[in-house]
Order: sequence, then structure tokens, then C-alpha cells
Amino acid sequence: MIEWSPRFSVSDTVIDTQHQQLFSIMNEIIDGMKSGKCDDKNFISSVLNKLLDYTEYHFREEEMRFNSTAYPQKAEHIRAHKEFTEQVRQKIANKDKGIPCLNATEIANIAYNWLCKHILNFDKTYIDYISRNRK
Ligand SMILES: [Fe+2]
Ligand SMILES: [Fe+2]
Repeated sequence: MIEWSPRFSVSDTVIDTQHQQLFSIMNEIIDGMKSGKCDDKNFISSVLNKLLDYTEYHFREEEMRFNSTAYPQKAEHIRAHKEFTEQVRQKIANKDKGIPCLNATEIANIAYNWLCKHILNFDKTYIDYISRNRK
């Protein structure tokens, strides 16, 4: 399980709430893996599509906030978002081809290395940039 805590706060309630929702989807996947749903195609399909839809919605919301600014890590940040959605899309495609696509270790890695680190390394920086450059 991953738990949202104030250290992940980016001081923007809309974005914090969306991050909490992403933690909750990740936990749903982790719980499913723990209860032996690794091979349950319906479960995998439903959680991965849910993750993809919500992530795309969240990324649009973030990119809208920094696209119109001179935030210097803009391109890199958008690239990180694309890499993540591609990774999820790839897993959905693998599942459709019958290739086993999820295992608990991999999901834990995505949750910690992607979601948590992305918030700390990228999301906090654009919010800082925007608030420092606000007139
Ligand atoms: Fe984010
Ligand atoms: Fe982001």
C-alpha cells in the first residue's frame, strides 16, 4: 500500500486531490495483486483502463497549469507524463495479446518509483515555479 501524506502536497488542493485519487487506484491494483488477481483479465483490464483514463485527465490538468508559463522543465515534464501513459498503454496492449502483464513487484515499482518520485521531483517544481512567478 502507498499512502498519501502531507510531504506529497504541492499546495494546490485540486492537484493534491487528484494525486490522492491516483494513490487510491494504485492501491486498488496492489490489493488485487495481493489477493491473487494477477491472472484475472477482467480485473486487470478494468484497473489499467481506470488508471490510464484518470492519469490522462490529471496530466491535462497539470499541463494546463504550466503550459502558458516559462517553467523551464516543461518539455521534460511532459515527456515524463508521456512515458508513463505509454507504459500503461503497453500493458493494456500486452493483456489484449494474452501476454501476462502485471506482477506485484512491477506494480509496487510503478507506484513508488513513478508516482511518488514524479510528484516529489516534477510536480512540486512546477507549482513552486508558478507561485514564485505569479505577479
Ligand atoms: Fe501529478
Ligand atoms: Fe506531473
